[in-house]
Amino acid sequence: MLHVISAMNSNSCCNVANLCLCLSEFGRFLRDSANKRQDAYGGTIEKRCRFVLETIAAISATIGEHRTAIRFSPFGIFQSMDDTNPVALYSYLFQQLSQIHPNLAYVHLTDFGSTPEAGELMGQLRKEWSGKYILNLSELTPAQAIQHIENDRADLIAFGRHFIANPDLPHRLKNNLPLNEQDVSTFYTHDAAGYIDYSFYNGRHESE
Ligand SMILES: Cc1cc2nc3c(=O)[nH]c(=O)nc-3n(C[C@H](O)[C@H](O)[C@H](O)COP(=O)(O)O)c2cc1C
Repeated sequence: MLHVISAMNSNSCCNVANLCLCLSEFGRFLRDSANKRQDAYGGTIEKRCRFVLETIAAISATIGEHRTAIRFSPFGIFQSMDDTNPVALYSYLFQQLSQIHPNLAYVHLTDFGSTPEAGELMGQLRKEWSGKYILNLSELTPAQAIQHIENDRADLIAFGRHFIANPDLPHRLKNNLPLNEQDVSTFYTHDAAGYIDYSFYNGRHESE
């Protein structure tokens, strides 16, 4: 069965992916292209992961581990924020999360803005995290998403752009219905156009 969630709404998820505030904050600690610290938060992989692990510990202690989640783009190269050995870095981080915070709601990985081999590597990283694993792979078709679930590469697949363009995306996927075309010109804009004016499959609009 395909479980679908939106890649856009992070809720209590601690978003370490892409171009969020968190990339500049957490990524600045995690990745060796950016972290040039010589204190307890820089240098080795263990030290670079410390800030993220302490943050997860603090959030979990406050709201509960089961309400806390984290999103990464381990192979993201956006804004030159890369790492020389992301597999080693995230393997260690996921092992630590599995040991210390096994009951996190989920770990969510995206390949948005990543190296081409990211999808394959993210599937491999799955074995390092013991809990729920969400994959967001760019431009994924519904058929490909089902294949990833069937091949046990993820527990859930997150869609971003399909969800923007299809307010009833789960219904459409479940019933094999065609998807609305995305209007890329309205992405990253700030008014209602392109956010609440896509139609449901039955022709109804969200505002009706
Ligand atoms: C308009 C728009 C806004 C987005 N905002 C965020 C964001 O705030 N944080 C984030 O981590 N990713 C963000 N993304 C990336 C998506 O979460 C997702 O990783 C990306 O669109 C690839 O998945 P998709 O092919 O299913 O859309 C955004 C993408 C789009 C198109």
